[in-house]
Amino acid sequence: MNVLKRCIYGISIISIASMNVQCKGDKKVEETTTEAKATEVVTIEKSAYGTTPKGEKIDSYKLKNQKGMEVDIITYGGIISSLKVPNKAGKSEEVVIGFNSLDQYMKANPYFGALIGRYGNRIAKGKFTLDGKQYSLAINNDPNALHGGPEGFHRVVWTAEEAKGGDSASLKLKYVSKDMEEGYPGNLTVFVTYTLNNDNSLDVLYEATTDKKTVVNLTQHSYFNLSSDFSKPILDHEITIDADKLVPVDATLIPTGELTDVTNTPFDFRKAKAVGAAIGAKDDQLKKGLGYDHCWVLNNQDKGYRFAASAYDAGSGRLLEVYTDQPGIQFYSGNFLDGTLPMRNGGTYAHRTGFCLETQHYPDSPNQKDFPSTILNPGENYKTKTSFKFSVK
Ligand code: BGC
Repeated sequence: MNVLKRCIYGISIISIASMNVQCKGDKKVEETTTEAKATEVVTIEKSAYGTTPKGEKIDSYKLKNQKGMEVDIITYGGIISSLKVPNKAGKSEEVVIGFNSLDQYMKANPYFGALIGRYGNRIAKGKFTLDGKQYSLAINNDPNALHGGPEGFHRVVWTAEEAKGGDSASLKLKYVSKDMEEGYPGNLTVFVTYTLNNDNSLDVLYEATTDKKTVVNLTQHSYFNLSSDFSKPILDHEITIDADKLVPVDATLIPTGELTDVTNTPFDFRKAKAVGAAIGAKDDQLKKGLGYDHCWVLNNQDKGYRFAASAYDAGSGRLLEVYTDQPGIQFYSGNFLDGTLPMRNGGTYAHRTGFCLETQHYPDSPNQKDFPSTILNPGENYKTKTSFKFSVK
């Protein structure tokens, strides 16, 4: 193709802005990339995000579909640093809490957007026993261990591999957690694949294998605010959770071991209810959680992957539906957000300006004989999938 033809072809498939690039210099490589992009339904763009004090290079990947959804993932902590979805007027806006620099993500923060492991949620007093041997974890949420430890999966650097094709694009992250890292036995090889589809759903596939018996409970810790107005609490969001039962906790947020009926309690979200409707009710569990910070026992566990929960913001019209194959979901109403951490463009994240829907096994399962097991043995494949589906109504 001569340069002129190439340029005409370029005009027909790409925007005028990128045409300049197409028509300058040696075109071979750029042209191929651009042509490929034109046929790709969901694109991925890699960029440098920053460098850790140890000299590790951190990348950011932007996955973008043709329906106005964009997700940015950084290789530090596998963090979703930005997620934009359209409102009912078709305007794409930010819906997750995040920072705008690696420095800020590296400072203490409540797991904004991060991948959580090796064990998401709490383990009582940081102790558990496998085959008669007791393991001790760091106490990072006095008196318990929380979210995999101070240097858990949210603070490690993942390697990334892109995959494109069909109606989606994926970023497959990998991390090898060494035997006894953060106190957990076994070398654990972990893959987390984020897939953006062209129907505005984001799938998160978690996979792991071990060479020694261990415990695993992986999750994703994005804080959503579907209104996109992060100066506003999420109390108006209407939540549904497909769960007849709750995992009640003690004063340190460790399960008591019972599973209690949600009927006639502030924890009944079987029909859509605003977060704020009963969060202020006189209720022992709400008192312990300082609001909602509990794991619900999801219904239909025998069905595997199924609808688990939803959140709806009437102002923007955004609806988020969560699907999972996991037995539980932690609904956390951002009770510990306290106005100390900076928003992306000025201001700070105040009390309850974001909520989490963390699909997972019940907290402290390694110490609760009646809870579904979180043990992973050598030769077994840990494989679980959660999807965040966005739409408007
Ligand atoms: C926990 C909260 C905790 C938050 C941030 C949530 O998953 O349930 O208790 O404060 O993570 O650390």
